[in-house]
Amino acid sequence: MEILGLISVPTWLFCLCLILLSLYIYTTWCQSVWKKLGVPGPKPVPFLGILNRLFKQNVNDVDMDLHKQYGRVVGVYHGNIPVLLVTDPELIKQITVKEFSNFTNRFNLIYPGEIMENGVNVALDDHWKFLRNTLSPTFSTGKLKNMMPLIQNNINTMLEIISEKSSKGESMEMKSLFGGYTMDVIASTAFGLEINSLKNPDDPFVNHAKIFFSGSFTGPFIMLQFMFPRLTSLFSVLKISFFPKKLSAFFANVINKTIQMRKEDPDTNKDFLQLMLNTEKERIDSGGKHIKGLTRNEIYGNSLIFMVAGYDTTANTLTFGSYCLATNPDVQDKLIEEIDREIADKPLGYENVMSLEYLDMFISEVLRLWAPTPRFPKSSSRVPPELLKEFFIKPKNGMILITLNSSTFHASST
Ligand code: HEM
Repeated sequence: MEILGLISVPTWLFCLCLILLSLYIYTTWCQSVWKKLGVPGPKPVPFLGILNRLFKQNVNDVDMDLHKQYGRVVGVYHGNIPVLLVTDPELIKQITVKEFSNFTNRFNLIYPGEIMENGVNVALDDHWKFLRNTLSPTFSTGKLKNMMPLIQNNINTMLEIISEKSSKGESMEMKSLFGGYTMDVIASTAFGLEINSLKNPDDPFVNHAKIFFSGSFTGPFIMLQFMFPRLTSLFSVLKISFFPKKLSAFFANVINKTIQMRKEDPDTNKDFLQLMLNTEKERIDSGGKHIKGLTRNEIYGNSLIFMVAGYDTTANTLTFGSYCLATNPDVQDKLIEEIDREIADKPLGYENVMSLEYLDMFISEVLRLWAPTPRFPKSSSRVPPELLKEFFIKPKNGMILITLNSSTFHASST
């Protein structure tokens, strides 16, 4: 093939250049949203946006830098997906409180798979509302109180390990200790299993959970969806997920076995799994209204979500909490004094713990310093025009994605 009769170019090379040029035009077009709307932000890398920075650096550090450089509202791209980073406390309050009804959805950058899409923190709009209303009662004070014996068993195991190690003068890796404890609590409360991972690190549940948390199953599908956001809908229709079927089948099987055992011995009514099972059948409430229950996929999905949402958050908070106590002995003394004064002669229980004011303040401070969930991703197709003005954006049709960054917010307010 000849171009303008001047140079002879092989057809394959010409096609390759054409494809590369089209891809470049596509990414430039996707990454032009914030510039057109006048939102400040860093120059995006074609197809990556700021992903290259997020792969290399800690997300908190990246967000802090962006906040310092560009201010309270920053336009960035995850791949080709526009994301607005909001770090202004008043705007965050507006989104999470006043305008919450318009921001119930998280943004699903990737298709999470048939089971995970039924989780309350993935589901959208009315499905989210239904799941939230159905699951919220499982977190009532009374229900949590019933779970206390399960939690107490796991605390006892952890304390045994701590006293054994300390009697020998051995040191402990706190993240593994609290990680094991948290996994045991989740396995017993969300899956109805006693796994004792601290003593049986090779238990199949522990091994599968480790793969789950390592994120080693992430791969090219995720990157493809970041680069070509519209593929997410296609992946969803074709049911192509980044989450390996083997892993979800394992956890579904664990739940099925437990359910089977419960049918033979229906005397268990104290964990999240049973509370979800209790809603499985359609019921009639006191006003004669039909109440839809959870489907089996919703039960699988939300058991997994409890694991996703509860594991790292709790284990990291406990780990950083122990670090704070070790490095601030005066705080440790004050905490011990409060516990001795308030509950030393009472059984460990939900209400007793709730009376510990200094403990509450201490945990809040640990969460402020080391936020385990630095971002609150929200998305909305119904952003109120008044709020857009607050973002310095002229109202425009279409979806705006918003990321609230609690760690930058915390850091900027200290
Ligand atoms: C220190 C511990 C924890 C922290 C800091 C934490 C933090 C958060 C945050 C920031 C959100 C997002 C809220 C929003 O977007 O408006 C969230 C949602 C959620 N968390 Fe936690 N969490 C913790 C522990 C747990 C535990 C132990 C569980 C489960 C047993 C859990 C289950 C959930 C669920 C299901 C959601 C989604 C709620 C919804 O979409 O309606 N979290 N958490």
